[in-house]
Amino acid sequence: MSPESRMTLAFDVYGTLVDTAGIAQALAGYVGDLAPSLAQLWRDKQLEYSFRRGLMQRYADFAVCTRDALDYACASLGADLTGTEKGALLQAYRALPAFADVEQGLQAVKTLGCRLFAFSNGTPDEVDALLKHANLRHHFEAIVSVDEVGSFKPDPAVYARLLQRTNSAAAETWLVSGNPFDVIGAIAAGLQAVWLKRDPQAVFDPWEIQPSATISRLDELPLVLPGVS
Ligand code: 2OP
Repeated sequence: MSPESRMTLAFDVYGTLVDTAGIAQALAGYVGDLAPSLAQLWRDKQLEYSFRRGLMQRYADFAVCTRDALDYACASLGADLTGTEKGALLQAYRALPAFADVEQGLQAVKTLGCRLFAFSNGTPDEVDALLKHANLRHHFEAIVSVDEVGSFKPDPAVYARLLQRTNSAAAETWLVSGNPFDVIGAIAAGLQAVWLKRDPQAVFDPWEIQPSATISRLDELPLVLPGVS
C-alpha cells in the first residue's frame, strides 16, 4: 500500500451517492406526468435555499430547505398536495435510491486503503438514515455534516470543518461530488476534487476553477487518484 492510499476521500451524498431524481417515482403517485419536472424544481430550490441561507447567515437545517422547496415547487407547478401527502414525500426523501455504480466504487477505494467519509449538507441523522437504507453506511468512517458549522456548501468554513474532523491536510483530501458547485467550493478551499459526471450532457460551470479530475462512474475513481492506479 503506498502512502497516498491512506488519503482521505469525502463523498458528497445527495446527487453523488443517492439520486435525488429518484423521488420522481414517489411523486408520480400524486402528480403523474408532472413528477420529473417537479422533482427537478424541488431539488433546484432546495439548493438555492441552502445557498441563500448560507449567505444571509440564517441557518436552518437542510430538512427545512427541503420542506420549503417542496412547498414552493408544488405551488409553482400547481400541484395541490395535502399536508399528509407532502409528509409522505419528505419521508420518502430519507430513503432515496443509491446510484447503481456506488457500491462497487466505494468498495474499490476502500480496498485500496483510503479513508472514506460522507460529507453533506444533510443533517447527521438524515444522512445516516439514507446511507443505512441504501446499505452503504458501513463503508464510511464517519459522517461530516455542515450542521456542525451552521452553514452550507460552498461556504469555505464547511470544507475547513471537514479537514478538522478528518484530521487531514487539504492537499491530501479529495472530495468526490456530482455537484459542480461543491467541486468548485472544495478546490477553492484548497482540497482536490473529482467531478462525477454521470450525465454526458452535464456542463461544468465555466469558472476559473476546474475539477482536479472528472469521471463518469464512481468505480473509475481509482484511475484518477494519485499513487493508487
Ligand atoms: C450534499 O451536500 C450538495 O446536496 C448535496 O449532500
